[in-house]
Amino acid sequence: MAEPYYITTAINYPNGRPHIGHAYEAIAADVIARFHRLQGRLVRFQTGTDEHGLKMARKAKEEGRTPRELADEMSSYFREMADGLDISFDRFIRTVEPAHHAASQALWQAMERSGDLYLDRYEGWYSVRDEAFYDDKELVVGEGGERLSPQGTPVEWTVEESWFFRLSNYQDRLLALYDEQPDFIAPASRRNEMRAFVSSGLRDLSVSRTSFEWGVRVPGSDTHVMYVWVDALTNYLTGLGYPEPAVDLQRFWPADLHLVGKDIVRFHAVYWPAFLMSAGLPLPRKVYGHGFVLNQGRKESKSLGNVTDPLELAQRYGVDVLRYFLMREVSFGQDGTWSHEAIVMRSNADLANSFGNLVQRVFGFIFKNLHGKASVRQELQAEDRAFLSQVREACARTLPQHFEALLLNQGLDAWMQAVFACNAYVDEQAPWALRKSDPERMETVLAVLCSAIRCLATAIQPVIPRSAARVLDTMHVPDDARTFAHIDAEGGEGAYTIAQPVPLFPRLELPESPPT
Ligand code: ME8
Ligand code: MG
Repeated sequence: MAEPYYITTAINYPNGRPHIGHAYEAIAADVIARFHRLQGRLVRFQTGTDEHGLKMARKAKEEGRTPRELADEMSSYFREMADGLDISFDRFIRTVEPAHHAASQALWQAMERSGDLYLDRYEGWYSVRDEAFYDDKELVVGEGGERLSPQGTPVEWTVEESWFFRLSNYQDRLLALYDEQPDFIAPASRRNEMRAFVSSGLRDLSVSRTSFEWGVRVPGSDTHVMYVWVDALTNYLTGLGYPEPAVDLQRFWPADLHLVGKDIVRFHAVYWPAFLMSAGLPLPRKVYGHGFVLNQGRKESKSLGNVTDPLELAQRYGVDVLRYFLMREVSFGQDGTWSHEAIVMRSNADLANSFGNLVQRVFGFIFKNLHGKASVRQELQAEDRAFLSQVREACARTLPQHFEALLLNQGLDAWMQAVFACNAYVDEQAPWALRKSDPERMETVLAVLCSAIRCLATAIQPVIPRSAARVLDTMHVPDDARTFAHIDAEGGEGAYTIAQPVPLFPRLELPESPPT
């Protein structure tokens, strides 16, 4: 039985259209999910939209429609983004689903049974943009002297009757968790932030609202809806069938990885494990807080007018180009930046001129001059073996080790080194020059290159699935022979049949006047 692996993205607020940050997180999670599938694991991958709360209610009001209408329309754009970026999710969850309401209420009741919920009055600051409560001491002062959240968003003074969760009771247990499970929060910088936050003392958390209705009803408390983060976090359980003892729940919970942005690590690494402890449920294995993607160093925002539709980028440059660019250009865990120039340069250098050109040259030559067939004709020479073992090492060992550790850009770096090694081998062996003088050696060198290309294409599937599939299809590699285990089995002793190659990556040009 394959080892289960459950990965989730944050669920996105559909109060607007998807932006590059949403695309980035979905792509990173997809790369990780696809990677684990190729390692033979039974992967469950969930994404979706977070549709309740004051932010959604206000936005709908502004637009003169119901929150549900807004949610239905906007959620569909997130779904389209996921489909358009080849995100291989197993479940796209919407928090308006009745099953999700039921799951959130079940979790609530479990926390209530533990004696962790009580009724009181909330008086304090709330940021609608962040859907978060803040202490006085966390606020910062804006340019006009106004109070802002630590994320720089407006806060409003809020007074209302509210249910509270006894978060203060969980301080020691959370600190113990961070000590006992040092990988629970990653990267380490985020763990240190959370440790400091929890050490400084936790106040009980307001977990219901009475001033609006767009949310999940609090069981037995008609005028209250749950604080949107309580229901939002529950989505990770809903998708597995909680509270029913469903097969998926047993198989996939606890989650292996909650992949989220750095701004919402607190909700996942402090509140969520406390809720789960209270409800008596196992804790996720890891919360990873990735960095932000900026547009030429600046955050995209409607007021700056630099918001980019990720699907438009994918259409302009190609889905695989966008995926590869984001994974390679951003040091995973840190902030990164994108620009049209950077995408074009990276795609041309790595994909068109290095990998694509290698494949095109080798396959094109075999197709034209050898009727599409290349086999190893002689015993391999020491340099052939050394070359192949270098490529296999990068593809079957170094890249997987880095991906396993979520060092995605480092994994790609190892892959690129292997591509360079292939191009160097082509230059040294100059197979085309052997056509007259030593056709057997020529064919052997080409077959060795096919073996290397198969390794490269197999290993890069998680990042550029379409292009990798095209290479493997052109080589007639069977669908069930494309896992990492097959790289090891690939001995470089084979016979290869190559179909007519189609160009993989056109050389990109900068748009005359980039739109943003
Ligand atoms: O926070 N770069 O939703 P959201 C990278 N509904 N990632 C970014 C980003 C950027 N520029 N901007 C946002 C929410 N993100 C909640 C989550 S989970 C139970 C509920 C990331 O639409 C952000 O950090 O504001 C988060 O992980 C995700 O996009 C959705 O953000
Ligand atoms: Mg946000």
